[in-house]
Amino acid sequence: MDIVSLYAQKRVSPQELASRVENGWRLGTDAALAAPPGFFAALSERARQGALTGVTVQTLLDVYPFDFYVDETLKGKVTGVSWFSGGFARKAVNAGLADFIPNYYRDTPSHILRSYDYDAVCFSVSPMDRHGYFSLSTTCSYTPAMIQKARRVFVEVNRRQPRALCGGQIHISQVDALTEFDCELPTLPPTKQDEVSLTIGGLIAERIDDGSCIQLGIGAIPDAVGAALKDKHDLGIHTEMFTDSMVELIECGAVNNSRKQIHRGQSVTTFAFGSQRIYDFIDDNPGIAIMPVDYVNDPNVICKNDNMISINAALEVDLMGQVCAESVGTRHISGTGGQVDYVRGACQSKGGKSFIAFSSTAKNGTISKVKPILTPGAVVTTSKNDVDYIVTEYGVAHLRGETLSSRARQLIAIAHPDFRDELRFEAKKRGILI
Ligand code: COA
Repeated sequence: MDIVSLYAQKRVSPQELASRVENGWRLGTDAALAAPPGFFAALSERARQGALTGVTVQTLLDVYPFDFYVDETLKGKVTGVSWFSGGFARKAVNAGLADFIPNYYRDTPSHILRSYDYDAVCFSVSPMDRHGYFSLSTTCSYTPAMIQKARRVFVEVNRRQPRALCGGQIHISQVDALTEFDCELPTLPPTKQDEVSLTIGGLIAERIDDGSCIQLGIGAIPDAVGAALKDKHDLGIHTEMFTDSMVELIECGAVNNSRKQIHRGQSVTTFAFGSQRIYDFIDDNPGIAIMPVDYVNDPNVICKNDNMISINAALEVDLMGQVCAESVGTRHISGTGGQVDYVRGACQSKGGKSFIAFSSTAKNGTISKVKPILTPGAVVTTSKNDVDYIVTEYGVAHLRGETLSSRARQLIAIAHPDFRDELRFEAKKRGILI
């Protein structure tokens, strides 16, 4: 059958797609814009009407307000399970409404291949091309692994999804059913660039040479570093999430990927999320490769680029250099994501450096983010054995290979001045300042 007839034969409404789901099914989707809002809304509506129970849905970085994360009446009917939480999953996990799977992002495909079978997976894709392919658009991540473990593959076609020329593709012959659902793509509001983040951006930019290859994580600080790199030359990009500041660096000429050891001439990522400017940039652009996360985030791949620089944010650090980036005490915030993958990859790279950066205080200066010990319940994201540079607006601490005493001294020096005496007192009491 020709591809146009196949398309017509497989096309159903979102409601019809949702009506195929049965009690107890495990469903899955991929990161950020890969999630299918039309199908999930119809699924939740079915469950709300009492037609479904015991369904689970795996997501990563939820960027739509899916009902199964926000509507308590769906408890037990449709349960969200997060690989890395956006704002909606965060609230649902903390409320006991949704579950969470701890993981290093690079390992997600192997967890999927070893531990999970899916009754159906569904991804939002761009319209079919003349050869019968749908572009997986801004996300590749673990989609290939999920497809391998799925009994049924559904796609939701959104005309606003950009077509990634060097990204994942799925052919109409691999699809069991498709639906069309056009909606605006969610965008990330621009981060607030205050004096603190600009200072931190400057401190890190001073330590990045021309020709380096960069990864920027999520949050205001990585964005500020991006903004501070505009005067550099010949930078490359090998990252987990492709962000707005990266588009700016490419457009202003600071990034040209000319000195990378692998994927020379291309920016490499596993997904993208940000403003419409990113989505327009990705559309039909052979300069950006969107590849599976078990490749992109593998430290042994990351380190192949010399002078690999990773920049990520955190919520608190203790005096040994244990970094918490995913919870505030026991309160779940996000996940490990690719932080450890990039800390390790950068440190293995010739001339590479990894920076974990944050403002010295939280909650209007009332809480120090440098702590004698982590808040009880806090999750260790990056261990003391992996950590490299820690940066606040008061300076830069280099911890890798350093003694406990040197770590404590350096971290106290970059803590907010209001908390330094207390930190010194606690460090002496524990005998780690000698
Ligand atoms: N104690 C108490 N509250 C704290 C805190 C602390 N030490 N540090 C931050 N907070 C609060 C903030 O006030 C904010 O609260 P609000 O939501 O009520 O405003 C919240 O925690 C989030 O902090 P913020 O500094 O605004 O976060 P961010 O948007 O800059 O993101 C991370 C920082 C660490 C959460 C984010 O980078 C992340 O999710 N990292 C995961 C791991 C990672 O780096 N992966 C790689 C990414 S590609």
